[in-house]
Amino acid sequence: MAVSFLSYYYIFEVIYLKKNAEKLYIPEHIGIIMDGNGRWAKKRGLPRPVGHTYGAKTFKEITRYISKQGVKYLTLYAFSTENWKRPLEEVNSLMKIFRQYLMESLTDFREDDIKVVFIGDRSAFPKDIIDLIYETEEVAKDRQGMQLNIAMNYGGRDELLTAVKRICQDVQEGKLSADALTEKDISDRLYTANIPDPDLIIRTGGEHRLSNFMLYQAAYSEFYSTDTLWPDFSEKDFQDAILEFNKRSRRFGGV
Ligand code: IPE
Ligand code: IPE
Ligand code: MG
Repeated sequence: MAVSFLSYYYIFEVIYLKKNAEKLYIPEHIGIIMDGNGRWAKKRGLPRPVGHTYGAKTFKEITRYISKQGVKYLTLYAFSTENWKRPLEEVNSLMKIFRQYLMESLTDFREDDIKVVFIGDRSAFPKDIIDLIYETEEVAKDRQGMQLNIAMNYGGRDELLTAVKRICQDVQEGKLSADALTEKDISDRLYTANIPDPDLIIRTGGEHRLSNFMLYQAAYSEFYSTDTLWPDFSEKDFQDAILEFNKRSRRFGGV
């Protein structure tokens, strides 16, 4: 009984989604805080790094799917400036996954025309990963499809600190006047210069916080949290977020 009700509900939802697909507004820029890999593994009695491996698989599949939905910019939070605090074993296994993922992405995403850009302080990574980051960006630089920003060793506070240092230098060199500084002078010095602010930020894993993600850019982003753990994040979860986004009234402080 319960099963058949659920399947009717599912069919209804698929029809509803299809009918409304043309009317739904697809956000131009979406950010995703990919959280819950560790808990996903723990639930299965597996070591945390296994959760990261499955998370990397979801990363690739969902990026491809989202690029086909008309999203122009997708920013995925992969490693924060605070994630270095984790046990060395976990950090090392994440580096191993990055290595493998980066090597694959040199050829992957080509057929989807996805442009790959890395945001964050890459200088902290081992030399071979830094080289791979530059190589991945170079290979994808002329692609015309969705821009995928991978946030690695990214922190909103670190990004702002770097911007402040650059501004100080420009003021010192007489390129900028301290009295005439504008908000644009700040946003021009962030990793996301020339990219619109995220319209929607999705967080998996059930927490309701930004964890240092896009602190400046998120001023008016819509926040959507789902209990789904990142390795389980599906096309249906993404569509649910879009549906919810379409119900929000964005006023930007106006009426
Ligand atoms: C997110 O999953 C991945 C990274 C931060 C690298 P977590 O590893 O934070 O998983 P939980 O939150 O502990 O379940
Ligand atoms: C945020 O997740 C960082 C990434 C998803 C890369 P965390 O697991 O590090 O965040 P907290 O510790 O729950 O705030
Ligand atoms: Mg977490």
